[in-house]
Amino acid sequence: MDAKAKSRLRRSDALRAGLQKSNCKGFAMLESQLKPFVVDETDRQRAVKELMGLRPKFGNVEELCGPSANIAHMYLPPHVLQSLHSIADPDGRVVQVIENMPMDIVLPCPPTDGKRPSAKSTYVSESALIGPTIAAGFDLMTFAQEKNGAIPQEVAPVFGLENSNSSASREDFGAHADNPILDEKVRVLIALIGLVNECETETYFASLEDTLSALPSKTVDLLFQRLYKVRYPESFQMGDDFTKTQPVLYKAPDGATEVKFAAWNNVGINREAEDALTALRNVLPMLLRPIVLKKGTFVLFSNTRCFHSRGRIEGQRWAQRIYCCKPDTLATLQHATGAGPGKRVFDARQLVNL
Ligand SMILES: [Fe+2]
Repeated sequence: MDAKAKSRLRRSDALRAGLQKSNCKGFAMLESQLKPFVVDETDRQRAVKELMGLRPKFGNVEELCGPSANIAHMYLPPHVLQSLHSIADPDGRVVQVIENMPMDIVLPCPPTDGKRPSAKSTYVSESALIGPTIAAGFDLMTFAQEKNGAIPQEVAPVFGLENSNSSASREDFGAHADNPILDEKVRVLIALIGLVNECETETYFASLEDTLSALPSKTVDLLFQRLYKVRYPESFQMGDDFTKTQPVLYKAPDGATEVKFAAWNNVGINREAEDALTALRNVLPMLLRPIVLKKGTFVLFSNTRCFHSRGRIEGQRWAQRIYCCKPDTLATLQHATGAGPGKRVFDARQLVNL
């Protein structure tokens, strides 16, 4: 048994022990959601042919949205698009994995500067990332402070940032939801597509529902209170400071329980709050379940109803990422920031308090 298999075994032993201890129902739901839909090979090849023809002028992503969504209907059946759509529902699934997605016939070396390689002459991976999310009824959005507002973002270790606490690092990335400093109205989903994953680095997910059922109710009650601050991420250029007090858990207007949490950036303002955070940090490793984002694997997940993390990266790894949201969420953000219709790239500083 190799080291990776042993590590998986240890993780499932810990999971079983955690389940017995917490007496919760189990994780069959999340495990079934992580089972991939596999694109039919003939459909994939037809889609690659079509997508190879998409060459947006100056890489303008707007030109990819409509055509890539139309082509997504060719290789994804309606029930898969419906599954993707349900991730924004308060009681919908939290994640959908799709394998054997269309991919560029020729890929350059992964970038080491966080930017799209100029040698990548085709837009198949970008279209396979964007198309299904648009076809499922979502709109794209992003933050000006991340990767210069690029859509999609290149996710690969960046030279000089390998040890940073960001997606540019090689180190283990603890359980978190992205951008927990932002207002609760910024309800986004995250889509990733794998291009290169030499050593099968794992990406992990834990559903918020499972996590809360594994915690004592007193801990959950504390996490709902405004007893926590979050350090601003370096990438947002807002100084080395913390947010005002905010809860880790909150109820969204549609009734969903949602989360704002990054294991390394949240602090409690008193001992009880810190203890609740510690309990949350301790239970998550037992609940996180892995997938491998290999070449042609797509995943869409809720940023507010599940946690995600990633193992240490060995060798080369390259993925692309987009944020997306429901059209009414995008309209809310455009209105609240004074941006006009069509605006997708937001100054994160305007989204902290809406
Ligand atoms: Fe993340």
